[in-house]
Amino acid sequence: MSATLITNIKMLVNAREDYKLLRGNDLANLPVIENAYLIIEHKKIVAYGEMEDFVHHTQTITEVIDAEGQIVLPCWCDSHTHLVFAASRENEFVDKIKGKTYAEIAASGGGILNSAKRIATATEDELFASAWKRLQELIHLGTGAIEIKSGYGLSTESELKMLRVIKKLKLKSPIPVKATFLGAHTFPLKYKENHQGYIDVIINEMLPAIAKENLADYIDVFCEEGFFSKEETITICKAAMQYGLKPKIHANQLNVSGGVQAGVELNAISVDHLETMDDATIHVLAQSNTIGTMLPTAAYFLRMPLQPARKLIDAGCAVALASDFNPGSSPSGNMNIVVSMSCIQMKMLPEEAINAATINGAFAIELEKEVGSISKGKLANLIFTKPIPSLEYLPYAFGSNLIDKVMINGVFI
Ligand code: NIG
Ligand code: FE
Repeated sequence: MSATLITNIKMLVNAREDYKLLRGNDLANLPVIENAYLIIEHKKIVAYGEMEDFVHHTQTITEVIDAEGQIVLPCWCDSHTHLVFAASRENEFVDKIKGKTYAEIAASGGGILNSAKRIATATEDELFASAWKRLQELIHLGTGAIEIKSGYGLSTESELKMLRVIKKLKLKSPIPVKATFLGAHTFPLKYKENHQGYIDVIINEMLPAIAKENLADYIDVFCEEGFFSKEETITICKAAMQYGLKPKIHANQLNVSGGVQAGVELNAISVDHLETMDDATIHVLAQSNTIGTMLPTAAYFLRMPLQPARKLIDAGCAVALASDFNPGSSPSGNMNIVVSMSCIQMKMLPEEAINAATINGAFAIELEKEVGSISKGKLANLIFTKPIPSLEYLPYAFGSNLIDKVMINGVFI
C-alpha cells in the first residue's frame, strides 16, 4: 500500500486520540507534538508522533514531504455558512454606513428578501458555479469541512433549487459538506401578515419534498424578533424532526429572543450567533448538550457587540466558531479571520479559538469522526503554515496570509 510521510513538522497541532466535545477549561487544552512526523494512507491519517520515535514502517512510503519549519493543523470546520447565494449586497453595506440598521434594511424589503428575489431568477447551474468558486476559495483558506444552508429561496421551488445545488456541492466537493434547510429564514412579503400560512407551506410542502429527495441533514430557523418567534421555531423544528432533520438554530443575534431556550428544549445540535445573551440564557446553554456557535465576523460586520465568549466558556458552555459566510452580515468565509477576531476581541486564548474552530466545529456538524483533529482514521485535511515563530503568531498576525499549503484527502490542492 502506498503512503505519504511528512517529516520534520515543527508543531503538529490538535493531535489527539481521545477527542470529545470540549467545554470549560478543557477548551484551552490543545495537544501539540513538536518536531513530529505524520503518515497518510488512502486519504487518511494512519500514524503520527515525534520524529525521534519514527521507525520505518513496513508499508511502502511512496512520497516524503519535508515540513521543516512548518506548523501543521487540522483544517477549519466551518459549521455555519450561507455559501449559496445569487448576488452580493454591497449596496446595503453602504446604506448601513450611511446610518440604516440591519433590521431597518430587512423591514424595507432588503436583506434576506433582496437575496430571495435574486435566487428566484437564478438557475441551478449559475448558483452551483458561483458557490463552487467560493468553496474553492475557502478550501485554499484552510476550510476542510463545511455546512451550507438554504434560506434565500422562501418558496418551495426556490428552496428546493438551493438545496439541490447544495446536494451537488456535497457530491462534487473534495471536503465534507452538510446541508441545512432554512426555509424559515424570514417571512416572504405575501405572508407578512399570515405567519401561519407560511409555516404551513414549510411543514406541508417544503419538508415532505426535501425528505423525498433527501436534501437536508439539519433544520434551521431564524428565531428573532421580527422573524420567527420561539413558539414558531419549536413548531417548525418538531415537524422537521419527524423527517430526521436535527435542529441547528439562528438564536440571540439581535435580541434575547428565546432562541437558545428553544434550541436547548429541542436538544438542538447547536444554537448559533449569540451576540445578545443574558446570564440566565448563558446558564441554560451551559447546562445543556447543545453547542453554542459564535459567529464573530457577523457581529463585526453589523457593528454589534461581539459574542461574550469568555462568559460562555467560563460558564461551561461547549462553544464552536464559524464564519456565517453570507452576503448580508458576513461577506467573508475566512476562518483565519474568525479565529484571530475571537482572540483579539473576545479574549479567547489561541488554543481555545483553534479548538473551537476545529474539533468543536466538527462536532457542530457531526463530523467529529472524520475531521477536526489529527487522529488516526480521520481525513488528512491539513493546513501547512508558512514558517512562523509560534502557534500564537497565527491569530496575532491577523492581516497576513500565513497558510503555505492546504492538503485535502492527503493531496495538496
Ligand atoms: O446568519 N441572521 C440571519 N441570517 C444570516 C444573514 C442573512 C442575510 O442578511 O442575508 C445571518 O447573519
Ligand atoms: Fe447565519
